[in-house]
Amino acid sequence: MRPHWLLLGACGWVLLLLVFVSKFISFRAVDDYGERSGAQTWTVPGTKAVQAAAASEPAKLQPTEQPSAADWPSVVEKRAELVSSVCEDLSLRNLTHVHINRFVLDRIFVCDKHKILFCQTPKVGNTQWKKVLMVLNGAYSSVEDIPESLVHDHEKNGLPRLSTLSPPEITHRLSSYFKFFIVRDPFERLISAFKDKFVKNPRFEPWYKHDIAPAIVRKYRKLHRDSERPGTGLRFEDFVRYLGDGEGRRRMDRQFGDHIIHWVTYAELCAPCEIHYSAVGHHETLERDAPHILSAAGIEQLVSYPPIPPGITRYNRTKVERYFSDISRRDVRRLYARYQGDFRLFGYPSPDFLLD
Ligand SMILES: *[C@@H]1O[C@H](CO)[C@@H](O)[C@H](O)[C@H]1NC(C)=O
Ligand SMILES: *[C@@H]1O[C@H](CO)[C@@H](O)[C@H](O)[C@H]1NC(C)=O
Repeated sequence: MRPHWLLLGACGWVLLLLVFVSKFISFRAVDDYGERSGAQTWTVPGTKAVQAAAASEPAKLQPTEQPSAADWPSVVEKRAELVSSVCEDLSLRNLTHVHINRFVLDRIFVCDKHKILFCQTPKVGNTQWKKVLMVLNGAYSSVEDIPESLVHDHEKNGLPRLSTLSPPEITHRLSSYFKFFIVRDPFERLISAFKDKFVKNPRFEPWYKHDIAPAIVRKYRKLHRDSERPGTGLRFEDFVRYLGDGEGRRRMDRQFGDHIIHWVTYAELCAPCEIHYSAVGHHETLERDAPHILSAAGIEQLVSYPPIPPGITRYNRTKVERYFSDISRRDVRRLYARYQGDFRLFGYPSPDFLLD
C-alpha cells in the first residue's frame, strides 16, 4: 500500500511545482511588453495567449495614422538624422554623450552568424528580440520553441555580450555589424519600470523592494516620519525625486549595480551618440518597426517577430497624467531635465501638459 501513497504524494508535488512554474512563465512573457492591456485576459501561459489575442483582433494591429510600410525606411532614416543632429547640440552634451564603457558593452548582445548587435533596453519587448537572435544563432527553429526560462539565462542562451570579447573584436563588430535597439516614451517607460519593479515586485526579484526602495525612501522622502511607518513602500513621488537628482544619486546607483538598467537613460544604456546604430525602433510603432528591422538586417526570410498583442504598445497619456498628478511641478521639471536627452534624441514631444 505504502508505495502507492508515496507515488500519489510525489505526483501532487510535481503538479504544484508545475502550476508555480507556469505562473512564473506567463508573467515573464506578458511582462516583457511593459503593460497588460486592460481589455485582454491573460489566462493561458506563454506565447499561446499572445497569439490568441492577436488573432482575435487583427484589425487593430496596424493603426491607420502611421505611414505605410513602404514609407517606413524614410521614417527610420529621419530618426537617424535626428539622433545625429541632437548629438551635436552642445547644450545637451552631458545628457547625450557617454563613454563606451563596460556597462554599455554589457547591454549589447552579439549574433555573429548574421552580423547583428542588439542593445537591450528593458520594457520594450526585449525577450522577444532575444528569442529572435537565438533562432538566428541556429539553436532553435522558431521563437515558439524556446523555453521561456532559457531566454534570460545568459550562461546558456548562446547570446554573448559584447563585453566578453577582446577590444579588437569589439571594434570590428561595432564598425561593421547591423546594430539596433528599441525605445519608448521616456516618462511612460519610467512608470512602467516603477510598476514592474516596486509595485508588483515579483518574488524572484526581492532586491527592488528590500534594498533599493528603502534606500531611495531614506534619501528622498520629504516627511521622514512617514518613512518609518511600516508598510509604506516606495511611492512614485519618491522615485521621481531620486531620478531627477543628477548628482546626488550617483553613489546610490553604484550600489544598485545593474538593476539601474530599468531607469537610467537610453543614452546611458546604448551610447547612441558614440555608436552609429543602423536602426532605432519605437515601441509605439513596433508593428512597423519589427518587420523593418528584420528586413534591414537581411533576416526577414529566416525568422519572424512574435505576434504583438493589440493595443499593448500604444502611448497612454491618461496613465502618464494620472501618475504625475501628485508630483510637484519642480520635481517634474527636474526629472525632465535629466531625461530631456532621451526625449530629444528619439523625437518624443516634451510633456508640456506636465511641465506648464
Ligand atoms: C549638464 O551640464 C550643465 C553645465 O554645463 C549643468 O548645469 C547641468 O546640471 C548638467 N546636467 C546634468 C544632468 O548633469
Ligand atoms: C490608459 O490608462 C488608464 C489609467 O491607467 C486606463 O484606465 C486606461 O484603460 C488606459 N487606456 C488604454 C487604451 O489602455
